[in-house]
Amino acid sequence: MGPVSDDNPGRRSGAVAVVYGTRPEIVKLAGVLRELGGRACAVHTGQHYSAALSDVFLTQLRLGAPDVRLDIGGTSRGRQIGEATVALDRLFADRRPAAVVVQGDTNTALAGALAANASGIPLVHVEAGLRSFDRAMPEEHNRVVIDHLADLCCAPTETSRANLLAEGIPAERIATTGNTVVDVVPEIVPDDDERRALLASHGVDEDAFVLATFHRPENVDDPDVLATILDELARLPMPVVLPLHPRTATRATSFGLDDRLRRLRVVEPLGYREFLGLAASSGILVSDSGGLQEEASVIKRPLVVVRNSTERPEVQGTFARLVAPGPAIGETVADWSSDLDALHARLAQTPSPYGDGDASKRCVAAIDELVTRP
Ligand code: UD1
Repeated sequence: MGPVSDDNPGRRSGAVAVVYGTRPEIVKLAGVLRELGGRACAVHTGQHYSAALSDVFLTQLRLGAPDVRLDIGGTSRGRQIGEATVALDRLFADRRPAAVVVQGDTNTALAGALAANASGIPLVHVEAGLRSFDRAMPEEHNRVVIDHLADLCCAPTETSRANLLAEGIPAERIATTGNTVVDVVPEIVPDDDERRALLASHGVDEDAFVLATFHRPENVDDPDVLATILDELARLPMPVVLPLHPRTATRATSFGLDDRLRRLRVVEPLGYREFLGLAASSGILVSDSGGLQEEASVIKRPLVVVRNSTERPEVQGTFARLVAPGPAIGETVADWSSDLDALHARLAQTPSPYGDGDASKRCVAAIDELVTRP
């Protein structure tokens, strides 16, 4: 665990501990951290330890270094959860935060929830109530447990709120806030000049390429599924830019699939700004990401969601289409490509179902209400 000093008021007892460990958590907690200001104690578990997946996001979102940095790294799921829980339990015993905030469904978020619960500290779950109803996903187990431990569930939409109520979570524990990602995307997405430079550096033309990302175990841990996805991408009628997550890179090499990667424009994982710039200038997105389903509704680009299930039904049929890994990838891209301008124009007029950009403010108002409750 990193050294803890009292220089920053956010490190003192009574602060709100905000726990993150992966890039989506950094993105989606940025607005909450800013709203909390000096009252926040930012804790990085180190689940994502590579600069490309962590520090570049802190810098681009102007968050600075975390107050406390743990070092759980890339181990097995059980060990990640166990080690982060032990380290956070120690930290919370030492610092006694007024509340602990976790976001989403990662191993880091579950560890933060377990440690807060064990320490008797009020727990806040940002992005509560998402359900894929798919028990094969580690994230589904993580989010269900977190929601049931949480004293305050910040549900992004009415659908997520209804999921929580259906599981018996009382209404007084739920605040409907919108999704905090909507707060940061407009601020981060680069302007036209920067986007033109990005397109030139990747050798692609506006609206005439596919931006793809893959990292979920269901897609990348099985050699046949990963080979199928890479073959489908290589057959698409547009160039495909593929920022490669370290998990996917490792699997592709160990399965002997590097020759298939050579048929695509593989690049290192991108910073948030670059990624959003390319995404907003792409013709079509193809991905198994969770957060991109929300981001697509802000940058107004169509997304092929390559998964067996989704916990984000709000964008299905408008910004997104869920397909299994296989020929449906190419079929969907062909279908949308037949009149891409009209599709882009339609999406430009379609509001995001994830809110108006004030979700972080609403979360912090609900947190304040929680910590001042007698
Ligand atoms: C995690 C989250 C997932 C989220 C994703 C965003 C869980 C269960 N999953 O998946 O919900 O969508 O982050 O990226 O928490 N690795 C590195 N450098 C890093 C981090 C990971 O090389 O900085 C490699 C390691 O070999 C590691 C593997 O990637 O074992 C997987 O990383 P891990 O943090 O376990 O999960 P993600 O696949 O990133």
